[in-house]
Amino acid sequence: MKTLEELREEIRAHDYAYYVRDEPTIADAQYDALIRELRRRENDSGEAVPADSPTQRVGGKADGAFASVKHAVSMLSLDNVFDEAGFLAFYRRLEERLDAAGKTALSAEPKFDGLAINLRYENGVLVRASTRGDGVTGEEVTANVRTIARIPLRLFTEKAPRVLDVRGEIYMPRQAFKALNAEMLARGGKLFANPRNAAAGSLRQQDPAITAQRKLAFFAHGAGEVSGWTLPDTYSALLARYRLWGIPVCPLQRRVADAAAAVAYFSTLGARRADLAFAIDGVVFKAERFVDQRRAGVLSRAPRWAVAWKFPAVEKTTVVEAITVQVGRTGAITPVARLRPVEVGGVTVGNATLHNADELARKDVRIGDTVFVRRAGDVIPEVVKVVAEKRPTDSVAFVLPACCPVCGAEVIRPQGEAVARCSGGLHCSAQRVRALIHFASRKALDIQGLGDKLIEQVVESGLVKTPADLFSLTREDWAALPRMAERSARNIVAALQAAKNTTLARFVYALGIRAVGKVSAELLAAHFHDLEALRAADEDSLQAIDGIGPVVAQYIHHFFRDEENLAVLHALRRAGVHWPVAEAEKAVNSPFAGKTVVLTGTLPTLTREEAGSLLQRLGAKVGTSISRRTDYLLAGDAPGGKLGKAETLGVTIIDEATL
Ligand code: IVH
Repeated sequence: MKTLEELREEIRAHDYAYYVRDEPTIADAQYDALIRELRRRENDSGEAVPADSPTQRVGGKADGAFASVKHAVSMLSLDNVFDEAGFLAFYRRLEERLDAAGKTALSAEPKFDGLAINLRYENGVLVRASTRGDGVTGEEVTANVRTIARIPLRLFTEKAPRVLDVRGEIYMPRQAFKALNAEMLARGGKLFANPRNAAAGSLRQQDPAITAQRKLAFFAHGAGEVSGWTLPDTYSALLARYRLWGIPVCPLQRRVADAAAAVAYFSTLGARRADLAFAIDGVVFKAERFVDQRRAGVLSRAPRWAVAWKFPAVEKTTVVEAITVQVGRTGAITPVARLRPVEVGGVTVGNATLHNADELARKDVRIGDTVFVRRAGDVIPEVVKVVAEKRPTDSVAFVLPACCPVCGAEVIRPQGEAVARCSGGLHCSAQRVRALIHFASRKALDIQGLGDKLIEQVVESGLVKTPADLFSLTREDWAALPRMAERSARNIVAALQAAKNTTLARFVYALGIRAVGKVSAELLAAHFHDLEALRAADEDSLQAIDGIGPVVAQYIHHFFRDEENLAVLHALRRAGVHWPVAEAEKAVNSPFAGKTVVLTGTLPTLTREEAGSLLQRLGAKVGTSISRRTDYLLAGDAPGGKLGKAETLGVTIIDEATL
């Protein structure tokens, strides 16, 4: 058997192949299995686990504030320039200091929209990570930085420097930023204004497990203290060395021979800006040779050998022509400002999100207002703030509509929630696909074979508007969908048939009522035993249930006040969706206990299925034909022959109201 250290080395070799050579030598699942094996064996061994073991990425929670760390070499900031003239002036000054004329080579690379970090490696092992802070003292964030998979816990070299401060930028790739904000929005949490804030917020977490989920990344852009090693001659060579050692380096970094090449780099990168996987806000130019850097020197907080040439502002002002609301797949109501079209960072912007009711109230954006709009890359354009001086005197505050603009159901916003939502969950067309996916999912009605794609197709076809419609589709309907085999169509119909036999908890969960998860659904089912009782419950009695809070209670109550949701519920019951009646529910001392009841005719409000299950719950047996043993006939409109027979046999006749 391999020793623990051999196993660690094997995993590190896979890391190297994956991250440095970009040629994975093992499938992800096998890699995960190796990590698991290592973790298990480290646990069993009882030995202390070295900090650079591949298992040591997520550690324990921090308690309280982050410790401060004094940087061995201060972390500088950069001077900014905003146009070509500014850049050329920087270059001229640099050459004057160096006594060079037009041949000072620079390094060019993006200015990443993240936060600067110092990674201290001692003998190749990551011992500390600290933020820039004020440049002299920063905060220790080692536990969180260790969770960033791309940052090596140990350098891939036998001959590591005794001390090496690797400096660089922690950032959040755009995809991850978008996904994070979408999740925040769905949970009603606070949105991050830009990837930089998101990266900073994610790094300053007390719990490294949260940082670990945030998909942060890193690019090196310098060095601090170095000892026991001689720096290469140039910045590009330093980065090349970093790359060999497994430290991430931005592939867009280039050496540019002179000012003209630098200007060309700036415009090329500017044109590619929107296509990059990470947000950047300019280009950083640095003297390429370290001797040049030393000779140019540092002025107060920024070096004279480097400059940040910023891209043109991505903020403009324009006028809000209207405010409308959009309904998302989760029913979230998002106010949107309709703007007089304006060009922002190379793209014409006509709409900007106002995020949610809280944000809207905070910014107090009104129709007719002049506002700042911002666009950061492909991040959705947003209204930053109102220009107060330009507000028309007759403007009025915008109020969110009380009804969903798509389906007309009531819009609700429980106290403390930032996001207002449509309560027409089962019938609102904006929420249709998502509602159906949830309805069919494993923990809900578990409709085998009815996947997301198929649901989208069947909704698109116009055949299905609510979950109840699923049950009325025939085999032919399913088979007529694109790419649907006859056999799969048969299977779907059979799966739907099988799914009708469910439990009350699953059914309640399947309704997709906001904030009602599996556990709440089980609580509700156990408490009420019966859908009718749940429907009738008011907010107070819902809240009285242990585990159901005021917000959930409000969502449930509103869901069952919506007529169209109720219509869908009826339709589902009519389609034959049912669940066993729990023994406990059968009322022993009800007047119907042990009695046989027969139904006839159309009842004013209940369907026959509902009346049947109500009677069962009251302890009755529901019969199909009248005999001497029948105790009651429950008669509605157009009763037919059973009524006469009951009268002849002296069976007691009751109506729905009596029931
Ligand atoms: S070099 C003296 N390179 O910009 C060199 N910084 O305005 C200082 N930044 O604190 C850093 N991208 O957080 C450097 N390619 C890059 C950068 C970069 C972003 C940030 C960094 C620094 C700030 C200074």
